[in-house]
Amino acid sequence: MQTYVLGIDVGTGGTRALIMGADGRVIASATSEHEPFATPQPGWAEQRPEDWWRAAGIAVKKALAKGQLRGDQISSVGFSGQMHGAVMLDGAGAVVRPALIWCDVRTEKQCRDLTERVGAEQLIRLTCNPALANFTVTKLLWTRENEPQNWKRVRSVLLPKDYVRFRLTGEKATDVADASGTLMLNVAQRQWSAEILKAAEIDKSWLPKLYESTEVCGKVSVKGAEATGLSVGTPVVAGAGDQAAGAVGMGIVTPGAVSATIGTSGVVFAATDSPALDPKGRVHTFCHAVPGRWHVMGVTQAAGLSLRWFRDQFDCTPARDERDPYEQLTAEAATVAPGADGLLWAPYLMGERTPHLDSAARGVLAGLTASHTRAHVIRAILEGVAFSLRDTFTIFAEMNVPVRNIRLGGGGARSRLWRQIQADVYGQEVEIVETEEGAAFGAAILAGVAAKIWLSVDAACDSAVCVVERVTPIPANVAVMNAAGIAYRRIYPAMKSILAS
Ligand code: XUL
Repeated sequence: MQTYVLGIDVGTGGTRALIMGADGRVIASATSEHEPFATPQPGWAEQRPEDWWRAAGIAVKKALAKGQLRGDQISSVGFSGQMHGAVMLDGAGAVVRPALIWCDVRTEKQCRDLTERVGAEQLIRLTCNPALANFTVTKLLWTRENEPQNWKRVRSVLLPKDYVRFRLTGEKATDVADASGTLMLNVAQRQWSAEILKAAEIDKSWLPKLYESTEVCGKVSVKGAEATGLSVGTPVVAGAGDQAAGAVGMGIVTPGAVSATIGTSGVVFAATDSPALDPKGRVHTFCHAVPGRWHVMGVTQAAGLSLRWFRDQFDCTPARDERDPYEQLTAEAATVAPGADGLLWAPYLMGERTPHLDSAARGVLAGLTASHTRAHVIRAILEGVAFSLRDTFTIFAEMNVPVRNIRLGGGGARSRLWRQIQADVYGQEVEIVETEEGAAFGAAILAGVAAKIWLSVDAACDSAVCVVERVTPIPANVAVMNAAGIAYRRIYPAMKSILAS
């Protein structure tokens, strides 16, 4: 009998279900949109976990129908999901309040308090990372300080995909890759950090059991089967946070392999054999989805989001043709020469993580003249996002993290122009993989390793991931981009001095 595995990615915009065959080919996939996240105040971002579960049920049923498969033909299920969110449950497993998700940055005070209590260096020593407003534990501390009534009811805490897993299997479980983004994990030892839990006064019994990404941690329950069409008893593997799962899906599993993914956020991700630390904490050091490996990644908060923001706010022209709006926008940008005639974009629309670690940073369009057009602005946005990702490559070089191959992912890999811009800005050849299916593909690979389709994640990547295109930098463009990149780096300090005045 043919073996099929399922990957479920609980993203921000929607949940995607993807069915893979034993040859690594995608059989069917389907997405069900989420309610947009709520922003009750600037910098806040909340979603209802029950809505993720609703979307997961729909997406899995749709994918099974598209693939003309029955639930009992799925051998195992893997998860991936948006990281860092805090899902708080009461003693009966009901959601206490909407989840504070990854891009919610209301917790600056809690970050300062925790850093003071633990000590900045000790925090990095224990968790490999500094306290950032994105990280889960700071969201718990905010709830305790600001919503004592809600806090009184909390009896357990889960990450977003792990809540969906809880509804599917009844088990409270997580993986070391996603747990790394909670700031409660001793990343080097791949265990919850007793010291941090003590300092933050979080009861360890509230946290889910930890697994490596390919380990089975539960089985589909009767209720889970009813909601999804899967069979009762189907094994479910731990999976990983979306960045680690997405990296597996692109074959970024051994040192030297690096990806640059432009989704809503932008991430430059490198696999490492041991935890690589930036003493300044500008990149995240997390466990990888491969047992015994780690990764470092730099994050641009508003990468694809910069282009979406432009589309939503300024692209008022009715659709000019049948093409995807982003394709039309990038085609317009392609009419302008590299360097956008001096126009620069700093993508700090949602504050910034790498390299500034500053949730108060703001976006800047610098150097406008009357001769600039819409096309220049779009080109400047594409280039500015690539400059922002390049900042991570610069930090990797300081840390001696090897960068041998760069693979592109997300929307930045689909646009021909954005691929070339990235090759020119990074000054290095970039590779495009055949199945650019993101984190759901990686989650299915992890399920496939548990189903014994492959003996290891490395073997799975060797067989399921293949490079179909290489884009080389154009020397003349590289020179223009290097000069523009120097000007780009001056924007942040200038913007900071304006906001401070
Ligand atoms: C990673 C991060 C995002 C979210 C949303 O640190 O915050 O990638 O996981 O997808």
